[in-house]
This record gives sequence, C-alpha cells and structure tokens, in this order.
Amino acid sequence: MIATAPPRVAPITVRGVGKVYPARRGSFVALHDVSFSVAPGEFCAIIGPSGCGKTTLLHILAGLFPASTGTVEIPPQEPGRLVTALIFQGISTLPWLTVLQNTEYGLRHMRVSPAERRTRAVEQLRRVGLDRFVDAFPHQLSEGMRQRVSIARALATDPDVLLMDEPFANLDEQNRLLLQDELLRLWQENRQTVLFVTHSLDEAIRLSDRVLVMTSAPGRIKAEVPVRLARPREFRSVRQDPEYGALSAKLWEALRDEVLRARQT
Ligand SMILES: Nc1ncnc2c1ncn2[C@@H]1O[C@H](COP(=O)(O)OP(=O)(O)O)[C@@H](O)[C@H]1O
Ligand SMILES: [Mg+2]
Repeated sequence: MIATAPPRVAPITVRGVGKVYPARRGSFVALHDVSFSVAPGEFCAIIGPSGCGKTTLLHILAGLFPASTGTVEIPPQEPGRLVTALIFQGISTLPWLTVLQNTEYGLRHMRVSPAERRTRAVEQLRRVGLDRFVDAFPHQLSEGMRQRVSIARALATDPDVLLMDEPFANLDEQNRLLLQDELLRLWQENRQTVLFVTHSLDEAIRLSDRVLVMTSAPGRIKAEVPVRLARPREFRSVRQDPEYGALSAKLWEALRDEVLRARQT
C-alpha cells in the first residue's frame, strides 16, 4: 500500500485565456476564452481533437509565451527549484547528454551544486527504475525508457505542478500501462498538481480525478467530467467497473463532434 501524501498547495487558475498566432493570411485563433481551475494535488486530464490548442495551453501555463488575452495563475518558479515542470510532447531527451546529465538538466539551470545535482538525479532515476543506466545515451534506450528519463528530469527539481503533454503517446500498450502505474505511484507519494494532456479516453479515465474536454479550434473547455473511481486503480478493476463504461461513453459523446469538426478544417 502506498502512503498518500498530503496535496501540495499549488492550485492552477485559468481565466478567459485566448491565444492568437500570426498566420500567413492574418491570424489564427488557437484558444478562445478558456477557463478552468485545478485544485492543489488534483490530477486533471485534458482531451481534445488534434490541433485544438492543448500544447499551446500547456506552454502558456509553463510560461514559454504569454496568452493573448486572459490570465493564468500558477505557482511562480523559485530559486533552486522548478516549481512547475513541463514534460514536452514527443521525445524530449537531449541526445548528446547521458541519462544522468539529462536528468540533472533542470537542476543545472537552477544552479544546484554538482554533488547535490548528482544525488538528486540518481535518486529520481532509481524511482523510475533507470539507475543502472546513468551513463547510457538516449539512443541506447527504448522509447519507454527515454520517456522515464523525461519524467525523472521533471521530478528531480521537486515540482509542485506537473504539466504533461501526451507523455505516453508513442508507447506500446504494455509499456503505457506500466508507466501509468509508475506515474500514479509517484503522484500518490508526492501529490503534485497534475495537468495531463492525452488523446486516450482510457488513459484519462484511469489516471485522473477530472477530465476536461476541449472543442476543436479555437479550443475552449466544452465539458468537465469528474472521475470518481476508487484508487488505487488497477488496470483490470478499472475496466470492470460499471462506472468505467459510463464515463467512457460520456467523454466520447462530448468529443466525437469535435473530432469530426476538426477533420473538416
Ligand atoms: N507557433 C505557432 N504559430 C502558428 N500557429 C501555431 C503555432 N503553434 C501552434 N499553432 C497552431 O495552433 C493550433 C493548436 O496547436 P497545438 O496547441 O499544438 O494543438 P494540439 O496540441 O491540441 O494538437 C494548430 O492549428 C497549430 O497549427
Ligand atoms: Mg499537442
């Protein structure tokens, strides 16, 4: 049984956020009037059709660029600590750095001393089962292992908020299930506030406390579906829960029209 930590005091609030990108002819509205909040320690999933602005939203929350309109409230970064960590869509390990150096990357930017950096990075690699691979380079690892390096790098700075952009999208089903288990274990040990983008209804239901469904572009929050399944969520028990089928149907009902609309643009 995993000890469940108290939630971190790190809410996220998004109010009326819009994002307009310059386009070849004029401009393109990627997000329009997006509002929601995530409670401290909550695991919130976002689903929406491809191109609806999910990555844009996470990048605004991570502070990579500002929203065109509206406001976001998210805990600010602190010296020596990345309070909000972003796991990018796709493979985000740096191929010229070893597994250890990849994991130390955020800490290096936070000017943590080399000795402490190493200790903290090795500890995180141990938690994701990669401490034997400290000196390996990303190309020597499987895709699932590389994704675990990205998770270790994000966790090494001890963030209160984890922004995850389709982190398991490129994995096969078995590895995806294993990494979901690992993520849930790490989350229960630390209770970060998590915003998790996925295109998998199944993954959203298995992991989250609540699922936000976005419309096709310009992205808005169309529906909000609480997931009240008991934790820990064993793979088999989740799928056998009658509530699972109802949730899945509800999410697909909200999403289907948006996916069809996104295909026509
Ligand atoms: N830097 C950019 N400049 C112009 N358009 C962009 C830029 N980034 C994303 N877009 C457009 O904004 C829309 C939303 O993109 P994105 O946030 O990546 O969506 P998602 O992650 O939901 O697939 C897409 O149509 C994409 O082409
Ligand atoms: Mg994306």
